[in-house]
Order: sequence, then structure tokens, then C-alpha cells
Amino acid sequence: WVPLILDLDTGIDDSLALLYLLASPEAEILTVASTAGNVPAAQVAANNLAWLDLCGRPDVEVTLGSPVPLTDPLRTTEDTHGPQGIGYAELPASGRRVSTRSATQAWVEVARSRPGEVTGLVTGPLTNLALALRLEPALPQLLRRLVVMGGAFNHPGNTTPESEWNISVDPEAAQEVFAAFSAAPADRRPIVCPLDITETIEMRPEHLRRLAAAAGSVPAEIVTELDPPGTRSAASVPIIRHLSDAVRFYLEFHRDHGQGFLAHMHDPFAAALALDPALAEYRPATVDVELAGTLTRGCTVADWHGMWGRSPNVDVAVRTDPDAFFARLVDRVGAFARD
Ligand code: BDR
Ligand code: CA
Repeated sequence: WVPLILDLDTGIDDSLALLYLLASPEAEILTVASTAGNVPAAQVAANNLAWLDLCGRPDVEVTLGSPVPLTDPLRTTEDTHGPQGIGYAELPASGRRVSTRSATQAWVEVARSRPGEVTGLVTGPLTNLALALRLEPALPQLLRRLVVMGGAFNHPGNTTPESEWNISVDPEAAQEVFAAFSAAPADRRPIVCPLDITETIEMRPEHLRRLAAAAGSVPAEIVTELDPPGTRSAASVPIIRHLSDAVRFYLEFHRDHGQGFLAHMHDPFAAALALDPALAEYRPATVDVELAGTLTRGCTVADWHGMWGRSPNVDVAVRTDPDAFFARLVDRVGAFARD
């Protein structure tokens, strides 16, 4: 079993990360925090609730996170993820409400309730976790492990030339979180999953076709590059239909930005590592965040060689086999959607 606290800014790839975890028998989702990022926190919460309901999991708690980053005003990115954050998908709205406790409280209370057992997964800005660390500075000892999708090291940024989205939206939060883990022992070091590796994991229509076929969807050919933008999926399986409508938007976004008709699987890959770190190879590093640079604010800087004289505070995922990841994604989400 892998008990989990999720903190998502759902988001198209966050949606797929959530589906992957819901489809994974070893994942025990204890709570889902909604962080402001791709879209405002309230919209993220609506998306989290809607996906959980669609997947038959109205029992899972959804909390609302901070509406704003620690210092900066909130920036959102509807051009990447669609007006509601889920591309062209039109999910039935949930009748449920968010939890009465905040995302920050949930982080602290859930971690305290099962000391040393819980894995935290953050696939959005680190605002909620930074606030939780202010409330409970012992969180690094209480968590079994932390996995963060964020940063770019030997790789250009995707938000500014030097910064990746999740870090760029709330650089102070990221800086506080990385600093809080500076004394973590090697087997408790957070895993950081940066653009360097997530941009090697390219979902293409072929993967969606395999997913639909595994789910028993008719037709299985659901997204082709020849369809006009915004074409809705005709898949017979509801989870596959909504997922295809979401991912199509992401494919079109990547194509419109010269990257090809593909979608980078940032968050789903981080989710896969939260369950099974053996899917990647790692390099320990001391990571810090540039806050002051006029051109480089939000840039993650890695000291790979101990030049700062500080011990490593994270393990950076550096290599993986994308095909092995996609095989797992197709098997798991396909079987789950079929049921
Ligand atoms: C990250 O930015 C977001 O838009 C994605 O959901 C992902 O978490 C990639 O930089
Ligand atoms: Ca995200």
C-alpha cells in the first residue's frame, strides 16, 4: 500500500495523474488538495471533485488550497489547459462540496495521523505544502516520502526561459519546501521530477488509441491529427471519452507551440514515481530556487558537486524508459475505465 496526500492544480496532465492513481490498486488516496496554478483553486477543486465522482470515488476528501501564491499575484494558464483546466472535457459537475478543513490542515493532520507512512505528491505550485510546513515544521520527518513535479535543470524552462511553471508560479513556496528538507536522510529525500525528464515522455494519439482499446471503447481510434481542432471524442466508455477530450486540447497546445501533436506527461509520470520510484534513475543534488534574478526568478538551481558545502536535499529523476511508463498507464487506466 502507498498512502497518499495529493496536491494538484488540475490541469489536463494532473487529471491523468489522478486517473492513474485511482486506477492503481496499491494507491490509497487519503486526501486531495486543490492548489491554485493552472486555473484558480476553486476551479481546481471543482475538477478534482468531478473526476472523483466520475470514477466512483465520492468518498475521497477534496480540500481547497490557498487562492494565491505566498508573494506574487496568481497567474493561471488557461491557454495551456482550457478555460476550466480540463481542455475540451465537459465533466458532470459534482454535487459535493470541498472539505471543511483547508488543504494546509489536511496536509498536517493526515501526515500526523500516520507518521512515517504517507507519501506526498505535488503536481502544482508548492504553496499549500509551504504553508503546511510553517504550521508543522516536522513534516519532513512525518512523511514517508515527497514527490514533486517541478523545475528544469539542464533544460530550458516552459514559463520563462529559465523557469518551469510549478516553481515559477510560487518561487518562495518552492524555496521554503526545498530548504525544509535540507536535513532529510538519504532514504527520505524528496524526489524531484523536472522538465528534463518529463519532456521525454510524449503521449501521442497512438497511446490514446491503445488506452481506448484496453478499455473496450468503440471506436478505439479516438483522436487523430486530421480532425479539426476541438473535435469531440466518440468513445463509448465515459472515462475514455472525457479523458480524450481533455488530452486533445493538450495535443493541440503542444502542436501550436511547435512541439508536434503530442503531450508531455509531466504529472502522470510524477504520480507513477510516487507509487514506484524504481521507474526512474536519480541523481542526488542540492536544489535551491532563484528568487531575486530579474531574468531568472523561479529558476531551480542544482548543485551536483557539493560546491555550496550543503548536503543533497533531493533526488532528481534523470532517466527513464517512457515505453515502460506508457505500458503501465495503458494497462491500469484502460482496465479501470472498462470496469
Ligand atoms: C507543469 O505545469 C503545469 O501546467 C502542468 O500541469 C505540470 O504540472 C509542467 O511544467
Ligand atoms: Ca500540474
